Amino acid sequence: MITIVVGTNRKKAVSRKIAEIYQQLLENKHVESQLLDLSELPNDFIDTALYENTGKNASFNQFKELIESTEKFVFIVPEYNGSFPGVLKAFIDGLEYPSVMTNKKGALVGVSAGMQGGAIALSHMTDVLNYLGVHVLALKPKLANIYHHLKDGRLTNDLYQELLETQADQLIAF
Ligand SMILES: Cc1cc2nc3c(=O)[nH]c(=O)nc-3n(C[C@H](O)[C@H](O)[C@H](O)COP(=O)(O)O)c2cc1C
Repeated sequence: MITIVVGTNRKKAVSRKIAEIYQQLLENKHVESQLLDLSELPNDFIDTALYENTGKNASFNQFKELIESTEKFVFIVPEYNGSFPGVLKAFIDGLEYPSVMTNKKGALVGVSAGMQGGAIALSHMTDVLNYLGVHVLALKPKLANIYHHLKDGRLTNDLYQELLETQADQLIAF
């Protein structure tokens, strides 16, 4: 089982569409996956699930359990202000420490409206995950200019699709 994390809570996020494309791609390879979409987090989780409230929000705990019960992850990471979204860091800060992700494996995909494809966001995210003991796959596709390469829920850029396919194969073998 691979958990695909949609790294933003923005409604109608493109990251969600990329996550669905990824899930289909894994299904075609007969690998089971589940989506963890941060837009489905309880709205008040910052007040009710972090720090002194760790473990107290039943709804947040369900998300935590998805992380705990999975060995491999794909993080779809949109570029927000030159980095990854704050809500993704807040979510990670709400997970148990020492990390429930230690020695697990992660693959990262960057998504941006601009031309960077989240390159720096992926770098920041890699630092955080490595700190938590997550082994991050070296191949990190950067889907830049995404609004020009997505139509009707499909990637129209063959290279982007190919990069996701290659990454998925590598993650399965990781
Ligand atoms: C708060 C915020 C900050 C953003 N900052 C950047 C940015 O620094 N560079 C960029 O290329 N796009 C930026 N974008 C656009 C996103 O990269 C774009 O919406 C893309 O579709 C991925 O985000 P999404 O999954 O929320 O759709 C930003 C979007 C938001 C909501």
